[in-house]
Amino acid sequence: MKLLVINGPNLNFLGIREKGIYGTEDYEYLVNMLKDKAAAEGHELKVFQSNCEGELIGRIQEAYHEKVEGIIINPGAYTHYSYAIRDALASIEVPIIEVHISNVHKREEFRHVSVTAPVCTGQIVGLGLKGYILAMDYLTGKA
Ligand code: DQA
Repeated sequence: MKLLVINGPNLNFLGIREKGIYGTEDYEYLVNMLKDKAAAEGHELKVFQSNCEGELIGRIQEAYHEKVEGIIINPGAYTHYSYAIRDALASIEVPIIEVHISNVHKREEFRHVSVTAPVCTGQIVGLGLKGYILAMDYLTGKA
């Protein structure tokens, strides 16, 4: 399968930012973990990260042209207020899993709302980096 992982703002700072919440593994660890899994299971996986809303929207639109078959997205803080990212996700018909490393429902109230989740297939929250693995297993039919 042709899969795409998109990470939003500050996720490139994994291992540096708020380690008590997001853990000590860095962004490179996450990327390698996902690429190794995809390679072992025979899937084509691209990974993209940006701190800019427009670039994230551009990458979602590019996924349409590339005929990506499944998307895993952690929109970071954009989750809570980006109607533009929501509209971009709603534009394409592939399965989309929203992942959050932390349990957003245990945190500040502004994090309890996701404007993007209603246009996704499902959401995985609070399971750390394993959430990305579980999302991949779902998309590939392994789980
Ligand atoms: C996050 C949760 C968001 O509230 C936060 O802004 C992030 C990361 C998570 O993965 O837990 O940047 O999406």
